[in-house]
Amino acid sequence: MSDEKIYPVPADFAARAHLKAADYEALYARSLADRDGFWAEQAGRFVSWFEPWRTVCEEDLAAGHIRWFAGGKLNVAWNCLDRHLATRGEQTALIWEGDDPAFARHVTYRELHDEVCRLANVLKTRGVKKGDRVCIYMPMIPAAVAAMLACARIGAVHSVVFGGFSPESIKSRILDSDCRVVITADQGLRGGKAIPLKANVDQALEGCPNVHTVLVYRHTGADIAWQDGRDGWYQDLLASASADCPAEPMDAEDPLFILYTSGSTGKPKGVLHTTGGYLTYVALTHKYVFDYHDGDVYWCTADVGWVTGHSYIVYGPLANGATSLVFEGVPTHPTPARFWEVIDKHQVNIFYTAPTAIRALMRAGDGPVLGTSRKSLRLLGSVGEPINPEAWEWYHRVVGEGRCPIVDTWWQTETGGILISPLPGATALKPGSATKPLFGIEPALMDADGNELPGAASGNLVLKRSWPGMMRSVYGDHQRFIDTYLKAYPGYYFTGDGCRRDEDGYYWITGRVDDVINVSGHRLGTAEIESALVLHPAVAEAAVVGYPHEIKGQGIYAFVTLMAGREPTPALRDELLATVRKEIGAIASPDVIQWAPGLPKTRSGKIMRRILRKIAENDLASIGDTTTLADPTVVEELVANRG
Ligand code: WTA
Repeated sequence: MSDEKIYPVPADFAARAHLKAADYEALYARSLADRDGFWAEQAGRFVSWFEPWRTVCEEDLAAGHIRWFAGGKLNVAWNCLDRHLATRGEQTALIWEGDDPAFARHVTYRELHDEVCRLANVLKTRGVKKGDRVCIYMPMIPAAVAAMLACARIGAVHSVVFGGFSPESIKSRILDSDCRVVITADQGLRGGKAIPLKANVDQALEGCPNVHTVLVYRHTGADIAWQDGRDGWYQDLLASASADCPAEPMDAEDPLFILYTSGSTGKPKGVLHTTGGYLTYVALTHKYVFDYHDGDVYWCTADVGWVTGHSYIVYGPLANGATSLVFEGVPTHPTPARFWEVIDKHQVNIFYTAPTAIRALMRAGDGPVLGTSRKSLRLLGSVGEPINPEAWEWYHRVVGEGRCPIVDTWWQTETGGILISPLPGATALKPGSATKPLFGIEPALMDADGNELPGAASGNLVLKRSWPGMMRSVYGDHQRFIDTYLKAYPGYYFTGDGCRRDEDGYYWITGRVDDVINVSGHRLGTAEIESALVLHPAVAEAAVVGYPHEIKGQGIYAFVTLMAGREPTPALRDELLATVRKEIGAIASPDVIQWAPGLPKTRSGKIMRRILRKIAENDLASIGDTTTLADPTVVEELVANRG
């Protein structure tokens, strides 16, 4: 489009970048023409192997059979720690910035290695073996990173549960993958508020008879309940453990972690990632997308409870020997200048955050930003949802003073790492576009009938071939993996996102085309929230849709039909919100509850979500034809009483 703004690569940025425009073109072409050769070279460059692989890639997407570097032996923790000790043992691996600005700490590679080895030995003495699952429910502190790496070191599979999830959510995740050990902390801190992590775990474990060990990091020092035999203090156990723990050689296709994520139907799925391909992919993308150079201070503001934290706080950066900042707090505490102050305090060069945070801080005005220097910043990043051009421009102009490129990185829990993104030294930017596919990534746009759309077009985004970081399965339910991702367009991986490709081959993600909503960058399934609502005895039926929300990107709009004889009251509304918080967590709490005497249904009884979405969006002109509904007057009633 001719009126589109284009930001060329700044010459000084390109001058020192790892990859420039011509490099991207050449490498991308090669990565498609000689995929196996390309990835074999990268796996050799980014990862240290104990033994070489037999085959680079085995792939049958329709059957859900994906293997990268099978037969190769490595250990992910060894790659993230041990191999750096000789050259950068005293370098800072993690900078921890506490929720309270008075607390910060540096952890060197040697110190992190020591902590990981001791913790790995503690896990072993508690009976954890290769292949066992371990649940991690931690605040954003270095011990959370150590816990992940300790599992990787002995070949245990971690399942990190975000600290904002409720005891019910912890329980269902522990049961689904049969975790027997939980690593947690007494409390977390966020925005000055204590999060009762251990108490949540205690409550969850009432329904988890197989859990025999809970390791508790003493963080705030609060009083907590204790179960002798089961519970042990992290610091005390580590102090008496040996710091010598050999890294278990793992096959490239052994599991590394499970991470639960929401889809359009059913309970959250345990997305399964493996070791060799995943590590190669996240290390490569971390280096090139963030143009990481030795000595840079890199800060990704995500939580380790999400995939962004796994791939771009822990595994990618540490595999590259980077200095990665771990922030416990929130963007607005104690003031909306916190991010910018932390950048100055720790001289951050690369800053990676989410559009929802940018929009919230933009609303606080330029003042809090302009009161800081930010001279150390060289590159900005965005992830989690489409970034609206207005927020992009503010981020670029005010935060980055016009000198820092922005990498708008599109990817998913399932993809393991970034798939579509600018390379900052190579790609001219268009605000709101994730721009171009990375190496080995072959996106395509499909119409509803399964035809691939050429050239400039809009359609459903699929990927035509696998890449090393791709998920391998849904834990315990391989058929669900196939059904969810590989059936809609046989032979291709279906992302669930809609997308437009422009005349320059730039990709513009338009958002989910399924019943997944993205609230402040947190991915939620509308079905999960509906299931939580109908657990309340007063609720007969519930339908949840997303609607545009100025700060959160999407808000949660619930239409609720009550049981006969129940009256809608403010108190009942509060009870429903509490039910959702209990079942899932505060992040899933509806922004709007509209009492609905009836829901629009087809004659066969299917809820017409399209119509509910239009009502929630207040786009009443587009509601369209309602004559096929079982009872068209339902719509008039809902429109008249919008929440
Ligand atoms: C959305 C987060 C537009 C998308 C890494 C995807 C984005 C879902 C972007 C995955 C982006 C993520 N532009 N949309 N740069 N990044 N998304 O699994 O809808 O939490 O399918 O992974 O977030 O969310 P998930």
